[in-house]
Amino acid sequence: MVSIALFGAGRIGQVHADNLLSIPDITLSALADPVASEARESLLARSGASLREPEAIFSDPDIDAYVIASPTDTHARFLHLAARTGKPVFCEKPVSLEFAQVVETARIIQHAGSPVMLGFQRRYDPEFMQLRQSIASGEAGRAQHIVMHTRDPAPPPLAYIQSSGGLFRDQAIHDFDMTRYLLDEEIVSVSATGACLIDPAIGAAGDIDTAMITLRASSGRLVQMINARHAAFGYDQRLEVVCERAVFTIRNHPATQIVRADAQGFLTAPPVSNFITRFASAYRAEMKAFHAMIVSGVKPLATMQDGVEAQRLAEAALLSMQENRPVSVRELG
Ligand SMILES: NC(=O)c1ccc[n+]([C@@H]2O[C@H](COP(=O)([O-])OP(=O)(O)OC[C@H]3O[C@@H](n4cnc5c(N)ncnc54)[C@H](O)[C@@H]3O)[C@@H](O)[C@H]2O)c1
Repeated sequence: MVSIALFGAGRIGQVHADNLLSIPDITLSALADPVASEARESLLARSGASLREPEAIFSDPDIDAYVIASPTDTHARFLHLAARTGKPVFCEKPVSLEFAQVVETARIIQHAGSPVMLGFQRRYDPEFMQLRQSIASGEAGRAQHIVMHTRDPAPPPLAYIQSSGGLFRDQAIHDFDMTRYLLDEEIVSVSATGACLIDPAIGAAGDIDTAMITLRASSGRLVQMINARHAAFGYDQRLEVVCERAVFTIRNHPATQIVRADAQGFLTAPPVSNFITRFASAYRAEMKAFHAMIVSGVKPLATMQDGVEAQRLAEAALLSMQENRPVSVRELG
């Protein structure tokens, strides 16, 4: 049996815990979460894990691997402690809100030789995986440009916004990563603009709720990202890849496939209401891949270096918006 310790029993920690518990070879033996809540107690009860301090977990030789799903400002510290053990780690994105700390943590991890998988679950979504293969095969000719839409159904609580690091580092980081994953090449330049058009409280907190970001890849291919904190119909996650001989589209997933048709027209269901439902199979596949990394050393689709590169693009976007100019990614080191 593989013994895993989980850090954080919140929104995403619960998803990872249930996916880990569905793998027969895994036991969730320890949980670190200092805040008492119904969610924490329920997780302890259904997993049989014991509640422990992080330091006790990292010094326990019987624990085989770590899943870090605690708030972002804890990730770097836990990764540093994990690196000392050399055991496999899954860590949620982003690694830190300070880019210098992300780079330093990646350096420590590399030096320690610890296997680290980063929480870019979209890389495990069956449709995104298939799309990447289609692009790579070249069967539709060269991919020329991508248009991506990511809109939350509604803004998160203000307290979340205040500690999120902002729209680019928090939400758009998945799209930055997806761009690199689909095109399989690095981005060299970022032009971003943003505004607060949805909720003035987000602007008062120093963030934006709407952004347009244009990326140029090293071969010259272009990506247009559109990110927002609200969509009137629910969670909006669409993407279009324009190739020489075909256009690939990933649509929203409707809550049901049933279509009602009458004299007024055709009525389809709205999309599933949040990212946890939309990417449920990706989160499951992600934990299975983590298990494969622990037991067989299978390389994950998202590494620490992918975390660094996605965040480099987020930092470049922020700089571009602040200084109202295209930013060369090289400026970020
Ligand atoms: N990949 C994704 O799709 C995705 C989705 C959501 C969140 N996230 C990331 O996951 C992390 C957690 O987000 P969330 O939405 O689950 O937050 P959350 O606030 O719902 O949960 C965080 C949990 O961590 C606990 N916690 C607080 N301090 C802790 C500590 N020192 N040690 C251990 N646990 C501690 C809290 O009590 C809470 O239960 C964030 O970094 C976020 O960016 C990633």
